[in-house]
Amino acid sequence: MNSETPSLALEAKFELLIDGMLNQGFGLCDQFFSPDLLLGLQKNLMKYHQSGEMHPAGVGRKFDYQRNAEIRGDVIRWIEPESADPHEAAFNQQIKAFVQYLNQTCYAGINAFEFHYASYEPGSFFKRHIDQFRSDRGRKYSLVMYLNENWEAKDGGQLTLYLPDREETVVPIAGRAVFFKSDELEHEVKPAHERPRIGIAGWLKSV
Ligand code: OGA
Ligand code: MN
Repeated sequence: MNSETPSLALEAKFELLIDGMLNQGFGLCDQFFSPDLLLGLQKNLMKYHQSGEMHPAGVGRKFDYQRNAEIRGDVIRWIEPESADPHEAAFNQQIKAFVQYLNQTCYAGINAFEFHYASYEPGSFFKRHIDQFRSDRGRKYSLVMYLNENWEAKDGGQLTLYLPDREETVVPIAGRAVFFKSDELEHEVKPAHERPRIGIAGWLKSV
């Protein structure tokens, strides 16, 4: 660990995400992953991408390639809840700890989660949307974590959050996590310009 950037204890990071979500409509936390975990997840995503193990994401509960491509252009791969990959196992552990903390502090009633890797090739985007399906209200909270080393605002790929009273822009830098309610906050992924924009997105659910 670099001494100039001491990592907060995990609970302090959870607190930052939850506090922001409750008090300003979204929570943001940098260095959400340990350096080892960040590197492991980056390597996994690149490996899956190179070996063709990522596929176009769906929109809503039906899949229609033509319609999808107009709305979102990322390719994804789901992270198995019982994955034997050590980095994915560590990731799932950290999510479980977050769920436990959220349930204890906010009586959130979360009893399931689902996460996928996502890669947006240059030029691809995800139009303004909310994450909860009208036909399935199980998704309660959205959590997005970025894996982009040395990403700058000029690389594009910003996440725009359409809050009731303002818009916020989040630059998707490696290790940054964003947390918000899935049923109300509209958001959008702007096109990345030259490099693929990589991360993990998912939902805490009550099913
Ligand atoms: C999503 C999404 C945001 C992001 O996957 O539903 O909105 O910043 N992702 O990747
Ligand atoms: Mn979304």
